[in-house]
Amino acid sequence: MAVIIASVLFLLSAHDVTAKSAADYAMERANLLAEESELQVGGNIRLTDEENKANDILMRYKHDEVDDSFNNPNHFNFSRHYFTYKNDIIDSKVYQIIRRMPKGAALHVHSSLILSADRMLELTYLDHLYACFADGDLKLHFSERVPQQPCTFKWQLISELRNNTENIQAFDDNLKSHFTMYSDKEKDYEGDINYVWKRFEKVVNVIKGLVEYRPAAEKFLYEALKEFYEDNVMYVELRSGLKALYELNGTRHDKVYMPRLYHRVAKQFKEDYPDFVGIKLIVTKQRSAGIDQIRNTINLARIVKQELPEMVAGFDLVGQEDLGKPLIDLLPVLSDAMEDLNFYFHGGETNWFGTVSDENLVDAILLGSKRIGHGYALIKHPSLMAAVRNRDIAIEVNVVSNVVLSLVCDVRNHPLATYLALGMPVVLSSDDPGAWGADPLSTDYYIAFVGVASKKADLRMLKQLVINSIRYSSLDNKNKLDMYRLLHRKWNVFIEDVIRIFG
Ligand SMILES: *[C@@H]1O[C@H](CO)[C@@H](O)[C@H](O)[C@H]1NC(C)=O
Ligand SMILES: *[C@@H]1O[C@H](CO)[C@@H](O)[C@H](O)[C@H]1NC(C)=O
Ligand SMILES: *[C@@H]1O[C@H](CO)[C@@H](O)[C@H](O)[C@H]1NC(C)=O
Ligand SMILES: [Zn+2]
Repeated sequence: MAVIIASVLFLLSAHDVTAKSAADYAMERANLLAEESELQVGGNIRLTDEENKANDILMRYKHDEVDDSFNNPNHFNFSRHYFTYKNDIIDSKVYQIIRRMPKGAALHVHSSLILSADRMLELTYLDHLYACFADGDLKLHFSERVPQQPCTFKWQLISELRNNTENIQAFDDNLKSHFTMYSDKEKDYEGDINYVWKRFEKVVNVIKGLVEYRPAAEKFLYEALKEFYEDNVMYVELRSGLKALYELNGTRHDKVYMPRLYHRVAKQFKEDYPDFVGIKLIVTKQRSAGIDQIRNTINLARIVKQELPEMVAGFDLVGQEDLGKPLIDLLPVLSDAMEDLNFYFHGGETNWFGTVSDENLVDAILLGSKRIGHGYALIKHPSLMAAVRNRDIAIEVNVVSNVVLSLVCDVRNHPLATYLALGMPVVLSSDDPGAWGADPLSTDYYIAFVGVASKKADLRMLKQLVINSIRYSSLDNKNKLDMYRLLHRKWNVFIEDVIRIFG
């Protein structure tokens, strides 16, 4: 019976096709494709003649790259771990173009993991830095005298160790390896999600000792902003757990001191580089912390916001989502804070469909989160996707992070492909570029553009993503307008450069 029905249907549909003229068929086909093309992120953008010239150049290089992998799947680097091809990216013309592109804002980065390991190493040349090497772990602390903190071996002055070593390069390379998860040994980066998060947290702990020292914090932020600026990022929203910075004599500042320092350093940076727009902070707390600690941090965020209203964008909870408290457990504290603070919650940074961590997405939406960090799992929730679109909540996608922190292997399977195709409110960011040795933003843009988005996605998509980064920032309307103007000027220079240099 089923066979008969199937063949009748086949005959009917075959008849349908043959009855249609080839021209009608071609038109319907073109219409369907055009519909999808318009729906995608950037689908409504019309390019100028000059932009079209630059786009042709960009797309010629992109198609070369994609076609080469399509014909030789073993050439396709983006189906492997990021660390295996990280150092080859620089040769790509598409990458080189994206690196020059003004990229607007980086809206999802964590403050202590934004600086490259090379620049972190420079901080270890500051005086009075002690190290405790024990069991493959490293602790660092600046101090006038030998630090009081426990060390299972012994505290040693870095300057003396470096002075006494035969091979300074090897000594520095070893130090540097503690500032990044990057490794060329597969056993270091292949592992389950808990394993890679442990390695990640190890990096965080080493860096802590450096960046909580007040003079190092100043240098750290300045150098980090410089790396973002050189990557053509114009504005940054930094997620930061406000830390009590320390001085050489052991004095600890209160936690309001750090945002003041960040404010001062950013101001200095803007004086040195007037076409940099600035920074804002999203105050964070570990989601594994106790409810009282979370409440205290929210109160701290309120205090900082009162003193530096233009510095504080809002509040977020951080740390491995599957192991931390779900938002629903914090409902009384969070709904209380909604009145005075905007939320920018991490949500759906998980592969565990239907679990409590997966449902953080629901609570992020209901608690009025302005953006959602990652939203990796959102694709599995059609009603939540619709809510995100209706409420115009931006999804902050960090592709490289999702690879390194073990959510996805082959980036063609990243849900970003669907978010882009659907024209969802997406912004691209890099989460912790220092921890994986990625650029502040270019690496993520490049991999998203060539490895995740449609082969046909072009300059219009890139331009829309840059516009989105301003649109969904926490800047007020006047500052957004100023930033669009600045972007417009930079964009025109970029288009000319592409034609002149790559044409
Ligand atoms: C991909 O990796 C290979 C070697 O692993 C390298 O030769 C090639 O340049 C890479 N391609 C890109 C686009 O990064
Ligand atoms: C480094 O070594 C030189 C000679 O060995 C010594 O004069 C100098 O004081 C040392 N510096 C430090 C910081 O230990
Ligand atoms: C510790 O050092 C800081 C900064 O140099 C200084 O302001 C403070 O007075 C010092 N405190 C003590 C107890 O010496
Ligand atoms: Zn994050």
